[in-house]
Amino acid sequence: MIRKCLFPVAGYGTRFLPATKAQPKEMLPILTKPLIQYGVEEAAAAGMMDIAMVTGRNKRAIEDHFDIVYELEDQLRGTRREERLESIRGLINDCTYSYTRQVHMRGLGDAILTGATIIGHEPFGVILADDLCVGEPGIMSQMLKVYEKYQCSIVAVEEVPHEDVNKYGIVSGNAIDDRHTLVNTMVEKPEPENAPSNLAIIGRYILTPDIFDILRNTPPGANGEVQITDALQTQAAQGNVIAYRFSGHRFDCGSIDGFVAATNFFYEKLISDRS
Ligand code: UTP
Repeated sequence: MIRKCLFPVAGYGTRFLPATKAQPKEMLPILTKPLIQYGVEEAAAAGMMDIAMVTGRNKRAIEDHFDIVYELEDQLRGTRREERLESIRGLINDCTYSYTRQVHMRGLGDAILTGATIIGHEPFGVILADDLCVGEPGIMSQMLKVYEKYQCSIVAVEEVPHEDVNKYGIVSGNAIDDRHTLVNTMVEKPEPENAPSNLAIIGRYILTPDIFDILRNTPPGANGEVQITDALQTQAAQGNVIAYRFSGHRFDCGSIDGFVAATNFFYEKLISDRS
């Protein structure tokens, strides 16, 4: 049973400027729900009800989103519009929310390490909300099953076009079956000619808590940032990382193309639900 899920949401979201100048990119909506809400729904569906967010400057809107707005509740009470608040009310009631701040944007590994005080000494999920995932069951629920079997760190992976490997952490190792690989090599943003494979880590992880000590001793890597991939390489060398090819679809909502694709996907779903 894993209770906690960490959401690193401190990034600047420069690819969405100027929209992200004064609001977090995780609050950009796909139809009516902000990206972060899809992520928290996925964690909650996996039974991870303790939500830990690593925030930064300009991120207050996220905290406000997971809180009650009394005036609004009052206005809508008893009207047909009240149901529009139902999904977020459920999450506010069912989950607890803790926040801590990453002071310097030193990369995803540093953001995860910043969450150590909230997570403590237990395995935990990590969701990057700008990777919006759809699957049945949810991707984090699928990963939990993998964790229950292997009891080590799990990374969700998918094949990406070879020319795109330099945007991702790339893994290779020994295939256990079609969906599971025991990882032995992990490289952050390799050039295509140096990439060990085209199997890319997407924004879903289950990590064992020894990762924090490893991160404390991980120097900055690609882009001068502390990379979670580099820390995971230490676990992989001990045979403690499984790459899992999830069943479902990922939208890279940190990019304009992925964001529009996700919007179209959910819009088409809405239209078919209506008819
Ligand atoms: P990205 O690489 O997408 O960076 O971070 P970004 O700043 O959010 O977006 P761009 O590239 O400038 O448009 C991946 C995830 O890691 C978090 C981000 O919030 C995002 O969820 N992150 C990254 C941190 O929390 N802290 C960091 O120092 C870096």
